[in-house]
Amino acid sequence: MTRILEIADLRVDLSRAERRVSPVGPVDLWLDAGECLGIVGESGSGKSLTLKAILDLLPDGLTRGTGTQKIAQGGRLVPTDPRSLRGAKISMISQEPAAALDPLMRIGDLIGEIVRHHSGCSWAEARLRAVDLLRRVGVPDPETRARFWPHELSGGLKQRVVISMALACQSDMLLCDEPTTALDVTIQAQIVDLLRDLQVNDGLGLIFVTHDLALIRQIADRICIMYAGLIVETGPSSEIFSNPQHPYTRALLAALPDIEQSEGRLVPIEGTPPAPTAFPQGCRFGPRCPRASDVCRQTAPALLATEDAQDVKVACHHTGDVT
Ligand SMILES: Nc1ncnc2c1ncn2[C@@H]1O[C@H](COP(=O)(O)OP(=O)(O)OP(=O)(O)O)[C@@H](O)[C@H]1O
Ligand SMILES: [Mg+2]
Repeated sequence: MTRILEIADLRVDLSRAERRVSPVGPVDLWLDAGECLGIVGESGSGKSLTLKAILDLLPDGLTRGTGTQKIAQGGRLVPTDPRSLRGAKISMISQEPAAALDPLMRIGDLIGEIVRHHSGCSWAEARLRAVDLLRRVGVPDPETRARFWPHELSGGLKQRVVISMALACQSDMLLCDEPTTALDVTIQAQIVDLLRDLQVNDGLGLIFVTHDLALIRQIADRICIMYAGLIVETGPSSEIFSNPQHPYTRALLAALPDIEQSEGRLVPIEGTPPAPTAFPQGCRFGPRCPRASDVCRQTAPALLATEDAQDVKVACHHTGDVT
């Protein structure tokens, strides 16, 4: 496996807080070529901010605190400034594809411009390549669609166009922030198939954020479970789903036997996650955790490999306790 991304100690801070407030982190992440890493967690757990921090696209009021980031270049992992990654090695797709499409440019020109920027080829060549890319992402009748304006496309086709723009950049990896949430079920499945095809056949690395547990079980090779800005459990998807260890993961997955009925959506857990300004001392999940004890209220648990499975890491003082 070729490692294409390695992030250590990533933190997102509120810029104007009197004391340090970090909605995310510290978080460590890595991704191999052709791999899909799923990030799962309740609303507000820091999934989107993590993806935005990787590309330094944080909204006003937030800054990247610490964090080193290495990406593969010429077969080696090299430290890289996040800003230089945007639209190059890494691309992002979100719930709202329209936001990534300039409404005043025809589809073919949008993609052609990116092709030209990256290859320096002629306009005529770039246009042909744009049509090829539209065909690659399954846009029907791409010659005609290349002359369309963004608003003339359906949501599903817009998402395909955004994915083709990532391919035009020759990105190694795609950060997907609930890319199918706004689409209807059939179109969702088509976009997921396309992403999977690019992952398996073109070796694209995916980081995939979703609330849909059934979907993440289907596509992710590895999973990170996030709670209150931290990764509380991570490991191969099969391990996490068959033998969840963290009480939070267990609560999230408790709905799985009913996954068909619940459509795989997260089922609410009693209580609410804390706001970043009110993260509790000790384990952040402590106040909602059925197993919390004194040590949990005092000391934050580190994310450590478990005794049973070295590739699974859990941040819980009670990992391994008999249940
Ligand atoms: N611009 C901002 N300024 C201050 N705090 C913010 C800002 N954006 C997000 N936050 C806080 O950071 C935390 C993480 O937000 P984030 O959007 O990453 O959550 P998420 O896991 O993507 O949630 P969802 O599933 O709802 O998309 C939240 O508690 C949120 O209140
Ligand atoms: Mg989000």
